[in-house]
Amino acid sequence: MLPAGAWWSCGRICLNPVLEVRNLKKVYRGGEGPAVDNVSFSMARGEMIGVIGPSGAGKSTLLRCINRLVTPTAGHIFIEGEEMTGAPAVRVRGLRRRVGMVFQHHNLVARLTVMQNVMHGRLGYMSTLDGILGRYQEADKKQAVEILTQTGLGSFLYHRAGELSGGQRQRVGIVRALMQQPSILLCDEPIASLDPASAQVVMDLIRDVCHRSAIACIVNLHQVDAALRYSDRIIGMYRGGIVFDGPAAELKESVIEKIYNKPIKQLMIGDGIKGGIRDEIREGMHSGIREEPHDGIRDGIKEGLRDGQNG
Ligand SMILES: Nc1ncnc2c1ncn2[C@@H]1O[C@H](COP(=O)(O)OP(=O)(O)O)[C@@H](O)[C@H]1O
Ligand SMILES: [Mg+2]
Repeated sequence: MLPAGAWWSCGRICLNPVLEVRNLKKVYRGGEGPAVDNVSFSMARGEMIGVIGPSGAGKSTLLRCINRLVTPTAGHIFIEGEEMTGAPAVRVRGLRRRVGMVFQHHNLVARLTVMQNVMHGRLGYMSTLDGILGRYQEADKKQAVEILTQTGLGSFLYHRAGELSGGQRQRVGIVRALMQQPSILLCDEPIASLDPASAQVVMDLIRDVCHRSAIACIVNLHQVDAALRYSDRIIGMYRGGIVFDGPAAELKESVIEKIYNKPIKQLMIGDGIKGGIRDEIREGMHSGIREEPHDGIRDGIKEGLRDGQNG
């Protein structure tokens, strides 16, 4: 039986992980040293990992290796038990569908409508011709409308993406990724260009997607306080390697100083980290971090375990 709490603290105990990264290494041609060096971790469904580290630590490269935007130099990546590394192109395409990606600059097509952008999330499931002609299934369109409405974007379906605010565009980017029906959502600095209010809406949405739909989310974050506030688990990277992997509550100031190689006073971190947020985490008050898993997830995991197909 899965021990209580194992669904989120699975860094060490992870049965049938949705993602397993083993001894991953990436050396770019012309790069000074490895951008990602001997990185290993695994994660469960419904777990939210915040990846922190200074610029150049290898956070983006790690995500790009996981969805094969870049080819790893060495190591292994398993998605729901299937090896991604070394797989033939056709299988990589299938595995990639299970991995949604959200970028800092959302990568929407500004002149297309919200609906058209979101439907692009289905392209991986269609023939090239159907994709070019935009021949989407009615059921998929209905689902897109449903998710957009739940996300508070129901009145923007036929607005051009270019007319939306940064926060709205980022939410559209997340819905597009969800249309892939991914098991894993990778978000690379999703709030780096947003104002604090929009950043909060976007992070709330990612956490909701993660916990309610049991999608494993990895979020690269520049803001340590946002990582602490939203993540079940933090991975700290420094010069390509993992220097911390554990629950947010265990991330000590001394560890943050090690990750950023700077005294905490010199770091551009909101006051939250020194006071409020840390205390709330310690006392288990803050939403998301000590929350009981949503019933759907808990039941889903139970059923999955019963069926022997989940983690
Ligand atoms: N396409 C590339 N070609 C060569 N070097 C790269 C490339 N992308 C990233 N790097 C290098 O790899 C290291 C890690 O970069 P990156 O993964 O972007 O870190 P982060 O996202 O943490 O800022 C850096 O030294 C960076 O300069
Ligand atoms: Mg980056």
